[in-house]
Parts: sequence; structure tokens; C-alpha cells
Amino acid sequence: MIEFIDIHKSFGSKQVLKGVSLTVHKGEIFFIIGASGAGKSVLVKHLIGLLQPDSGRIILDGVEITALKEKDFYPIRKRCAMVFQNATLFDSMTLLDNVALPIRKHRNVSVRKARELAIDKLALVGMQGEAERYPADFGDGMRKKVAIARALTLDPDFVIFDEPTTGIDPISANMIDKLIRRLSDEYGVTSIVISHDLRSIFGVADRIAMIYQGEFMLDGTPADFKSTDNPIIQQFIQGQPEGPMED
Ligand SMILES: Nc1ncnc2c1ncn2[C@@H]1O[C@H](COP(=O)(O)OP(=O)(O)OP(=O)(O)O)[C@@H](O)[C@H]1O
Ligand SMILES: [Mg+2]
Repeated sequence: MIEFIDIHKSFGSKQVLKGVSLTVHKGEIFFIIGASGAGKSVLVKHLIGLLQPDSGRIILDGVEITALKEKDFYPIRKRCAMVFQNATLFDSMTLLDNVALPIRKHRNVSVRKARELAIDKLALVGMQGEAERYPADFGDGMRKKVAIARALTLDPDFVIFDEPTTGIDPISANMIDKLIRRLSDEYGVTSIVISHDLRSIFGVADRIAMIYQGEFMLDGTPADFKSTDNPIIQQFIQGQPEGPMED
């Protein structure tokens, strides 16, 4: 279970999070939506210690991680993987070696075994046939799929996907949605997904929260979002350029 309790975060005079609380239960797929710059990435970066809140608490499976020292975040980052919005791969390494790297680093297995495990993860995103090719041969979408495979190498309990389907063709996006669902249904993985992709939001989310002006505006099921008469949420989920929403 992931708990954020009353998180506040500012950068200089800019207040980004003004008291955000959320609970994500084991095996749940929780989507965070909101306009560009709303603070979605800032919020999730707290979970792996890339940012510390100005106030508030973060609790992972009952253990408070809010003010841990950098080295105490190492074990948390193995349990809690993040697919970054701008995921980068090592250009000088094959896709296979990119994915095998965390296995080589953190698990005491032979090179051959690490490569076998890496192939299994590439297969999850349909990229096993390209294992010996280099990142430069592919566009952003394919590289993102490999970054997802790499994030799954240590069999994390929690995965944060920061815009996993942005810039990806619809078929691959669908495959990623199905993968997120499978991780939850078959392995009990708890996921937080940041997304603007309505098809994905309404196709896979168990629960959705929208950040607006530093706070959660609604935290509910996809059905709650569809039926709300909140005009700001309706504007957002219908993608209307005109409406009450402000920057
Ligand atoms: N390290 C930082 N230092 C200063 N300001 C930052 C930092 N990180 C984020 N911000 C600011 O915090 C605000 C929220 O940023 P964030 O990246 O969380 O937006 P987002 O909701 O993820 O948007 P997008 O959909 O564009 O990814 C932005 O105004 C951003 O400029
Ligand atoms: Mg972001």
C-alpha cells in the first residue's frame, strides 16, 4: 500500500503541491491526471526519494519513508520502479544489455542467466525480436517500451509509469495498457500511472485522481469521473480547449 499524507511542495515561491493525500491499495492501478505543469511528476518523484516534501508524510507498506537518507532509498528503489517520462537508454548498449544491466548489478546471476531474464522482460513488451539492436535504431515509442521492460527487471512490487503511452502508436499503447493490467492481476503489482491518454485512463484505471491547482479535485472510479458534473473535470476529460480550467 502506498500512502501520501498531506504533501506540500514548493519550488521557490511556486507552490506546486498544496496538501495532496492519496492511498493506493495493493494490486490497484491508480491513474493521476491533470494539465501540464500541474505537479504530477513532482508528486510521484517523492516516492523514490528524488524529491523530499516540505511537509507531509509518505508511507510504503506501513513504513514511513519521508525523511530517509539517500542510501536508505536504495532498497526502496528496487521494490518501487519508475518508468520516467523521458526514459533514456544507454546508446552504446544493445536493447538486451540495457535491460540486463539492473539484473547484472543487483542479482548474483551469470551473464547468461541475466540475458535470459532480460529476454523475458523484453518479451513482455513485444521487443524480444529486436534484442541485439541498438536504441538509435528505434523511435521514442519503441525506446519507451524497452524502458518499461528494464523497469520490470527486478520484479518490483510497485511501478510508477510516467506517461507510458505518450508518443506511442495505438497498438503498442494498447499492449502497454494490457501489460499494466496483467502486472496487477497476475503479480499483484501496485501501479501509479500518469497519463493524458483517455483511452488508457478509461480502459485500465481502477481509480483516478485529478490534480488541479496543487490539490486533488476528485479521487474516484472511472465511472465517477464520467458522471461528475464538475465542469473543470468534464473540460479535461473531454479535451475541450474552452472552459473554466485555468493554468
Ligand atoms: N526541480 C524543480 N525545480 C523547480 N521547479 C520544478 C522542479 N520540478 C518541477 N518543477 C515545477 O513544478 C511544476 C510541476 O511540474 P511537473 O513536472 O510535476 O508537471 P507535470 O504535471 O508532470 O506536467 P507534464 O504533464 O508537462 O509532465 C512545474 O511548474 C515545474 O516547472
Ligand atoms: Mg510530468
